[in-house]
Amino acid sequence: MYKKSLALLLGAALTISIFSGCMNKNKEAESNDGYRVNSAILEESSGEGAIVESSTEDFTDNNKEEEKFSEDAQANADITAGESENVNSNSNSNSHISTGITSHESEIFLEENVKNPVITVENGITYVDGILIANKTYPLPANYDPGDLLPEVYEAFYKLQAGARSDGLSIYISSGYRDYNLQSSLYERYCARDGQEAADRYSARPGHSEHQSGLGLDVNEISDRFIGTPEAIWLSEHSHEYGFIIRYPKGKEDITGYKYEPWHLRYLGEELAKDVYESGLCLEEYLGIDSEYKD
Ligand code: DAL
Ligand code: ZN
Repeated sequence: MYKKSLALLLGAALTISIFSGCMNKNKEAESNDGYRVNSAILEESSGEGAIVESSTEDFTDNNKEEEKFSEDAQANADITAGESENVNSNSNSNSHISTGITSHESEIFLEENVKNPVITVENGITYVDGILIANKTYPLPANYDPGDLLPEVYEAFYKLQAGARSDGLSIYISSGYRDYNLQSSLYERYCARDGQEAADRYSARPGHSEHQSGLGLDVNEISDRFIGTPEAIWLSEHSHEYGFIIRYPKGKEDITGYKYEPWHLRYLGEELAKDVYESGLCLEEYLGIDSEYKD
């Protein structure tokens, strides 16, 4: 009886061993296909074949989405060839792990390079990311009339003036606040003198001038003769320290809509002016907006 039981036990152990070997062989065969390994593992734990199938298809769809996302990012955000190749080679080397990394990198790249300005209009005044904008695209209402440069603009300007004076230079306001009607008569005069196309390069149409906002002002000589003077150079290097930017910088006419005006300052506050200055961008570029008349 004891011997018979022992023989039965040995037989059972042998059977289990052979069966186990078959199972391992099946797993090895499945492991040749990356997706099937995942399926096999999910099948063993959940036993839900249908879910396993859709899970595998999701991987494939995600990869297609990634490739499309990468292409879109390249087209829209001007990814360099090197970065794009790097993204693609990551996708090819390991479809599962590198897909997640690529997605993360692409999202960061887009967040950093594509501007999505928040444009709000309150009482007809346009604010872009909270900053009042008056340019060729965004006019002020004709009746918007702060009456003078804003107090914080005067305060900042006097500090700028004192800073320039300590460097031996004289900066003074030659044209500050201008209401809608004054801008209108100036613009008409320039159009009559030089023609509208020429006037549009240096004078804002009524409603479109920063001078009407109480945040823009001209200093010293309003003429190309001011270009390159020690005062113009000082302003280009120091205005931001006092909260101003040179609103129509050299080389940005196609974007701002106006030729270089080293005498026209726009008040933004110290933090923002410094940021815009350090970006090397004009305000339109910095905010991601344009400046073009509709007609
Ligand atoms: N000169 C600037 C563009 C103005 O007229 O407001
Ligand atoms: Zn001006």
